[in-house]
Amino acid sequence: MDARNAPLAGQKAIVTGASSGIGAAIARAFAAAGAVVGVNHHGDVAATQAIIDDIARAGGKGIALAADVSVEAEVQAMVRDFVAREGRLDILVANAGIQRDALFAEMRLADWQRVLDVNLTGQFLAAREAVRCFLKQGVVEGVSRAAGKIICMSSVHQVIPWAGHVNYAASKGGVMLLMQSLAQEVAPHRIRVNAIAPGAIETAINRPAWSTPEALKRLLTLIPYGRAGKVDDIAKAALWLASDESDYVTGTTLFVDGGMTLYPAFADNG
Ligand code: BGC
Repeated sequence: MDARNAPLAGQKAIVTGASSGIGAAIARAFAAAGAVVGVNHHGDVAATQAIIDDIARAGGKGIALAADVSVEAEVQAMVRDFVAREGRLDILVANAGIQRDALFAEMRLADWQRVLDVNLTGQFLAAREAVRCFLKQGVVEGVSRAAGKIICMSSVHQVIPWAGHVNYAASKGGVMLLMQSLAQEVAPHRIRVNAIAPGAIETAINRPAWSTPEALKRLLTLIPYGRAGKVDDIAKAALWLASDESDYVTGTTLFVDGGMTLYPAFADNG
């Protein structure tokens, strides 16, 4: 495989929350680009196996990694087992994320806590294990120009306030400064840390927002580019951020949102 067709050839990646949606698309894209991919899931064994089978049919290699990203011991065991099998870790996509929506006055502490635990603490735990690996490995000639790459899955809601989703928006705002602060800290070690902020991507997490014509019509008023996003829109951005093509990029958030963050309501007003 040459570097153009396989920009991740020889690299080892873990994608959290990869049994569905954006994570699954990233796992497939990374495997197609030559990486061995640890496909993290939280109990969805059949869906994970289907992704690994697809990857194998396409000539790649995926490994199922069960772990709840919010549990320290499980994340540590996941990374330890993967590195024991594959010898190293080059890329982490901290993607696992959930929504537990409620109006603020009705939001249960458990809904607040679970979203922060998975979306923010989960990224902390996975990124910390990855950084520990990258520091040990350093830059390895012939693998990548960086000692390691981390991609945090954020959201347009790291900057767009979102009524009825205070826990989710708070978690993604946290991801933004987790990513930037970590990027600043580890850049001297040649570790790159970036985020992707997807807009409305058609997955299970937001099905009610796009699965009926009326809902989709409403949604499109928020998207200047005129279409909902697809998981591959995000996978392509992730592939670029993970590859040496973006070697000078660190601490940035790549918005992949069809212009959702462009204040479309101001287009003919204000
Ligand atoms: C949320 C989706 C939402 C999108 C745009 C995402 O981060 O998970 O539910 O459709 O942001 O609002």
